[in-house]
Amino acid sequence: MCYAIPGRIVSLNGKKAVVDYFGERRTVRADFTDLTVGDYVYAQGGFVVDKIDASDALPILEQWKDTFFQLALRDAELARTTDKRHEGEFAQILSQAEDGSSLSHEQIARLLNANLAEQGLLFGAANRLRHAHLKNACCVHGIIEFSNICINDCLYCGIRHSNEKLSRYRLSVDEIVDIAVHAVKKHGFRALVLQSGEDIAYSTDDFVNIIQNIKKQCGVLLFMSVGCRDLECYTRMYHAGARGVLLRFETSNLSLYSRMHKGAKSDFSARLELVRHAKKSGYLIATGSIIGLPGQTEIDLANDILLAKSLGADMYSFGPLIPHPDTPLNEIKPVDVRMVLKMIATSRLVDPDATILVTSALETLDRQGRRSGLLSGANSLMINITPSRQRALYSIYPRRTDSLTVEENIDSTIELLHELGRAPTDLGR
Ligand code: 5AD
Repeated sequence: MCYAIPGRIVSLNGKKAVVDYFGERRTVRADFTDLTVGDYVYAQGGFVVDKIDASDALPILEQWKDTFFQLALRDAELARTTDKRHEGEFAQILSQAEDGSSLSHEQIARLLNANLAEQGLLFGAANRLRHAHLKNACCVHGIIEFSNICINDCLYCGIRHSNEKLSRYRLSVDEIVDIAVHAVKKHGFRALVLQSGEDIAYSTDDFVNIIQNIKKQCGVLLFMSVGCRDLECYTRMYHAGARGVLLRFETSNLSLYSRMHKGAKSDFSARLELVRHAKKSGYLIATGSIIGLPGQTEIDLANDILLAKSLGADMYSFGPLIPHPDTPLNEIKPVDVRMVLKMIATSRLVDPDATILVTSALETLDRQGRRSGLLSGANSLMINITPSRQRALYSIYPRRTDSLTVEENIDSTIELLHELGRAPTDLGR
């Protein structure tokens, strides 16, 4: 099974190309390869990541031909079943968003405050909006956690510097490249996230080597999630071929931020500057916050959504705090899963065209998290492909999906996506 459907280039204008998928057309950027009309390509996140021979593409398209339309139909059906307009001020906010008007901070906070009955309406509206704007495309990223060594001491995080109970690991440049290439060539991933603690043993040259060596061997969209490195590092990683940055601002509440990150090398404004720099450089930006930090309010969360939007987030990543026993926040009570779903759904209403992620933390909080997230406006998932020995040690929070092999995880993901009528691919923008 492939997670990406090959498309055919139908027109070209400089670095912009239009790709056709069974009659659906998307505009993409062609940064990496020279293309001509008629070429078959894989696109991810709005970028052509690989060109493939027609002799390889045609049998894959043949496999997809019926499934593509069956999935679309199923998704349309599921989105329609929630198509009920209601009276009242809450429903009024939903209609306003569905009609394309922007929402005020107050309205966003009101959505986050939805009671049980209102939540059904909110999730349904978000699912309809996702379907209306993005159809059934769902991007599946593989994530490789390549080092759990971190110079930071974030109060919530299990790999914080002062957690002495944790055994630490650091994969070599060659190991990281091998895992990534294997994920693309053997498992069919076309988008990967390379994540680590803030581990300064890796130099900018190391990151550049990793990116270049992966890109030399396979076509893939690479997201870097390596924390607050200097601006030049991000510029060089872009030139090496990375096109995504995953860097959360963690919370938009400044005083909460400084309480959570006491003594951090890099402060809130430096973090935002980095995200803005990456956006300007042309990266796709994945950012967001943690839900359920001590003292955080719905006003803060409304600000988080607006901050992500103002940063030009291409991908919204909001996930629950999962208390880690070896951190100062070990006794915090996790938020209700519905609060996380409200954040996903409200983000969709605020930014209908965005990619919205079901975080692994949501999957950890609730066994049904993936399904509920996808039905509440989300359209993106991550599959952990870190080798199992290291995966167990990448303990930002205690996880329970750790026992699944990569193959099992892929199979259950595909099964769920098919059930929900989602095409396990990213058709580009
Ligand atoms: N629970 C949930 N998310 C966490 N992160 C770190 N620790 C936790 C936790 N205990 C998140 C941070 C970081 C991302 C990689 O993991 O938001 O940016």
